[in-house]
Amino acid sequence: MTSFKLQWCFLCVLIGATSAQLSSTFYSSSCPNALSTIQSAVQSAINNEARMGASLVRLHFHDCFVNGCDGSILLDDNSTFTGEKTATPNNNSIRGYDVIDTIKTQVENMCPGIVSCADIVAVAARDSVVALGGPSWTVQLGRRDALTASLSLANSNIPRPSLNISDLITSFSDQGLSTKDLVALSGAHTIGQARCTSFRAHIYNDNDINSTFATSLQGNCPSSVGSGDDNLAPLDKTSSTTFDNAYYTNLLTSEGLLHSDQQLFNGNGGTTDSQVQSYSSDSSTFFTDFSNAMLNMGNLNVLTGTTGEVRINCRKTN
Ligand code: HEM
Ligand SMILES: *[C@@H]1O[C@H](CO)[C@@H](O)[C@H](O)[C@H]1NC(C)=O
Ligand SMILES: *[C@@H]1O[C@H](CO)[C@@H](O)[C@H](O)[C@H]1NC(C)=O
Ligand SMILES: *[C@@H]1O[C@H](CO)[C@@H](O)[C@H](O)[C@H]1NC(C)=O
Ligand SMILES: *[C@@H]1O[C@H](CO)[C@@H](O)[C@H](O)[C@H]1NC(C)=O
Repeated sequence: MTSFKLQWCFLCVLIGATSAQLSSTFYSSSCPNALSTIQSAVQSAINNEARMGASLVRLHFHDCFVNGCDGSILLDDNSTFTGEKTATPNNNSIRGYDVIDTIKTQVENMCPGIVSCADIVAVAARDSVVALGGPSWTVQLGRRDALTASLSLANSNIPRPSLNISDLITSFSDQGLSTKDLVALSGAHTIGQARCTSFRAHIYNDNDINSTFATSLQGNCPSSVGSGDDNLAPLDKTSSTTFDNAYYTNLLTSEGLLHSDQQLFNGNGGTTDSQVQSYSSDSSTFFTDFSNAMLNMGNLNVLTGTTGEVRINCRKTN
């Protein structure tokens, strides 16, 4: 009798714990083909346009930094609702909403009402990194989708490229992420593109930029605000469709595209200089730390159990 009670109580605690936590096997019986379906769709989106892999990684980041990884960024504005899509860091900048829609439709056809939009975004980010040659990790699953979104938190929580190292550290620690996570996660800028408006001040006004590099960028990014704002440049000048450690090697020669990138390395004993140096000389350390940091970011304020919902359409609440 005592042993039965003990056992029952142990199970009870286990059940209580699993409803509040993510698990890598969350869909193994409820939707066994969910992960392979997401992976194929991500691969075909990347085959169509390599940059989409970068865009999907960033989508997860911008979702997680606003009330946690809850799919809030995916909600469309309408006459009675304003979400996060027009926040300054997202407007005319975040891409990949249509890829998530395509995946969601395929997954809904297989297992209606089971796989959340927030989980699809987390898995698509991992699959993108792998498809572009980066590390793999086991994505924790069971996130549920938010019923709300926050334009004001999207504007205040997502770090701007104008931030200095101390404000970048604060922005990440406000989310519960370490300085080590900041430096590792910034390595996502080894893939993808930025608009002139995001790096104009850095290439014209800063003195911590390689002058040859600055001059080469100025041709396609005029100094006057409003002129060529959307013109693109690769975040990693050497290999913007390959997930490698070149982002960090670029920082050593003052060739970070964004002001915030170069803030991670000043060559003068800066707080994060040694971590940048280490990643630039050893991509396996970068890959391990990046994977761990993505797991940390993917756990931020997740909704689990019966909180939130599993959206049918990622663009609107049920
Ligand atoms: C550390 C603070 C960060 C700042 C200030 C920052 C800022 C930016 C900016 C300004 C852009 C260009 C946007 C545009 O011009 O349209 C960008 C692009 C990008 N960011 Fe970040 N970012 C940060 C961290 C991260 C993190 C943590 C990730 C993911 C783990 C990430 C992934 C990306 C990717 C992949 C792109 C390229 C997207 C594309 O080509 O569509 N960034 N970021
Ligand atoms: C978002 O971008 C659109 C299209 O460029 C623009 O018309 C709109 O004013 C922008 N919204 C905000 C809030 O900046
Ligand atoms: C970083 O930027 C903030 C806000 O612009 C400023 O108050 C602070 O003094 C700066 N810190 C350093 C170390 O430059
Ligand atoms: C500027 O970039 C070039 C090309 O990578 C590099 O050879 C040079 O050493 C850099 N200059 C400085 C001061 O880092
Ligand atoms: C507007 O969007 C919100 C959030 O997705 C949703 O709850 C609401 O039903 C939408 N309203 C209309 C008229 O579609």
